[in-house]
Amino acid sequence: MLKNKHILLVVCGGIAAFKALDLIRRLRERGAEVTPVLTKAAEEFVTPLSVSALAGNKVYRDLFDLTSEAEMGHIELSRAADLIVVAPATADMMAKMAQGHADDLASTLLLATDKRVLIAPSMNVRMWEHPATQRNLATLIGDGVLVAGPNEGDMACGEYGPGRMAEPLEIVDAIDTAFEDGPLKGKRILVTSGPTHEPIDPVRYIANRSSGAQGTAIARALSVLGADVLFVTGPADIPPPAGVEVVKVQTAAEMLEAVTGGLPADAAVFAAAVADWRMASESGSKIKKTKGALPVLKFAENPDILATVAQMKKGRPALVVGFAAETDDVVAHATAKRERKGCDWIVANDVSPETGIMGGSENAVTVISDKGADTWPRMTKDQVAQRLALQIAEALNG
Ligand code: C5P
Repeated sequence: MLKNKHILLVVCGGIAAFKALDLIRRLRERGAEVTPVLTKAAEEFVTPLSVSALAGNKVYRDLFDLTSEAEMGHIELSRAADLIVVAPATADMMAKMAQGHADDLASTLLLATDKRVLIAPSMNVRMWEHPATQRNLATLIGDGVLVAGPNEGDMACGEYGPGRMAEPLEIVDAIDTAFEDGPLKGKRILVTSGPTHEPIDPVRYIANRSSGAQGTAIARALSVLGADVLFVTGPADIPPPAGVEVVKVQTAAEMLEAVTGGLPADAAVFAAAVADWRMASESGSKIKKTKGALPVLKFAENPDILATVAQMKKGRPALVVGFAAETDDVVAHATAKRERKGCDWIVANDVSPETGIMGGSENAVTVISDKGADTWPRMTKDQVAQRLALQIAEALNG
């Protein structure tokens, strides 16, 4: 699997840097070519000579090294690899990566690369658990960075907990997995997400509270499994995931156009909270406040994008998944909705304010299909997305 793969290995300055030497050996045993990059701090833990000898390759250390730049520029170095591995990845390097800093060779390579990146974090347990590190970790995962470890155990500093770098063979396994084709490789999947904004006049609009969190997580999870994802999103609170094709829309009518224009697809997941109504006619100028006269808003019904696609006679995706946000009788309403709209699955959830689901990070869903209702335990929106993506892969691969 790793034969002739080119790994750019960034070694940061942490006590686990000594394990990077063994990692180099293990990778080379499997036929990989390893180009090592050391940060200044890493040189306090391992010597460039030992790293170079084990890698059988030149060690890159300095952004402003004229000889290295002449041989291979730092941009080229960041692109020549099949995968970039950061081991150990210190709290500082994770923060730099999350913020997009480029103040030394390692961080510059990581910002300049167009290849996938896998990090093996290693740090003191308090540093790992610090909200800043967890925030950076979430940002990096959102950017599509793969993560191996850390493990739990005794630490060099005498404390105990998560923060120990994954063992070299565990990192090799994670690298192997990164090179595997996901079960959705070659499948095109369309995902709608976020709210829609329906203009009243040039300054006012009708909207809803959808954050786009669940749709974004689903698009990311499908992409991680190898799908080619078209992400059609209304004005959401959070940015779209990396590595997917993004079409940004405002209104339901624009979303319908982007969706039909984006077909054919093997599957379509409609997670957007589309406004049910728009203004019958949008005012071309700002509606003035007139004393004693309240404006009367006249609505028109929006197209139902899910129903339109689910009921297509020609070119219907093999699997059409809808969502149902309900506040009471969730399963009964969602089951009726599945029939009415003609989709294959409905992912139903209770969005009553006391559940904290709308705008929150967790979700509790029931998936309704022709096999009946399957209620999942409450979990994070990322976990719901990963489980749904795996079920979609199973359904498409028969
Ligand atoms: O009818 P309701 O809005 O509850 O249905 C929810 C499902 O239908 C979601 O999957 C949503 O994305 C989709 N929908 C749509 N177009 C609409 C309304 C809802 O695609 N106009």
